[in-house]
Amino acid sequence: MQILATDETSLERSLSAAVATLRAGGLVAFPTETVYGLGADARNETAIRRIFAAKGRPAAHPVIVHVSDVDQIGGWATEVPAAAWRVARHFWPGPLTVILKKAPRTSLLLSGGATTIGLRVPAHPVAQRLLQQFGSGIAAPSANRFSRVSPTSARDVADDLGDAVDVILDGGRCPVGVESTIVDFSQAPPVLLRPGALTLEMLCAAAGVEIVEVNRAETASPGQHAVHYAPRAKVHICSGPEELLETVVRERSSGRRAVVLAWQPWRPEYGEVEWWEWPADLEQAAFELFHRLREIDRRGFDTAIVEMPSDQGLGKAIGDRLRRAGGLG
Ligand code: TXA
Ligand code: MG
Repeated sequence: MQILATDETSLERSLSAAVATLRAGGLVAFPTETVYGLGADARNETAIRRIFAAKGRPAAHPVIVHVSDVDQIGGWATEVPAAAWRVARHFWPGPLTVILKKAPRTSLLLSGGATTIGLRVPAHPVAQRLLQQFGSGIAAPSANRFSRVSPTSARDVADDLGDAVDVILDGGRCPVGVESTIVDFSQAPPVLLRPGALTLEMLCAAAGVEIVEVNRAETASPGQHAVHYAPRAKVHICSGPEELLETVVRERSSGRRAVVLAWQPWRPEYGEVEWWEWPADLEQAAFELFHRLREIDRRGFDTAIVEMPSDQGLGKAIGDRLRRAGGLG
């Protein structure tokens, strides 16, 4: 595995090496504005299979294809509804994935055996340059081992995947910090499958049609199962300050090393319990989210006691990831 810098002086050389690796059927991890992706040539089935092997991911989980611009949709999808065009034109490049009916020549490996394809145009300048120079679609799930926290730095990718990945393009920390919002336009009305940086209100306004929230009880959307984004530490999810304090008191007497991740600007005098406050600004909190979930393991805590955010705006995406980290789905 090689970690390649993307500062001004190294960028061209690093991109050439990354493109050569993709053309040879290798795996390239690259930064996007949301999280790092584990990329392979989306027209090369041998390369796509390597993604699944590297992640330890079940074959039934579909993989998003990343493309350089909205005009590439036709190469991968068919029967694209007008609302999907509107939303894609409005938010791309950006943290949005649209699910569409797949074009006949799009590999079934990307669809998890179904007839749809997920497409996204990332905004990160390194991802953009990589896609333009590669000149075709790059299949890329998040660059973590299956069911682990998504990576938001090159180090996270290296820690999880080691030599299972050939090249990591190091673009520093991902600015958004949570994965893209996913909207399934292969159904009518379209369905929000995964909350992210773009809210339902913003999407409906751009789509000009109603988009409905996924019914978790009924939908077994692949990859959206309960235990996901899980640190090794036991995660206790608390709905508010009272539950948080009760849990802190209980855990204190257990002898386990606990860290508290709270929205409270105050902290009680609990000596040995470490207290990490979330930034009040939700964008900043999303940026810190996966970084902190990984830090819990790096610092060797046994237990994380986590307070849920409000359900407003980005709080929805943050709460969704925290619930999964706690195994609550
Ligand atoms: O922000 C992101 O979306 C990042 C960056 C790298 O682009 N990618 C990402 O990929 O999070 P992944 O594979 O970790 O998560 C994509 C989710 C999975 O839950 C997958 O099951 C779902 O999207 N998905 C992909 N294609 C789909 C399809 N055709 N139908 C339904 N769900 C799909
Ligand atoms: Mg993932």
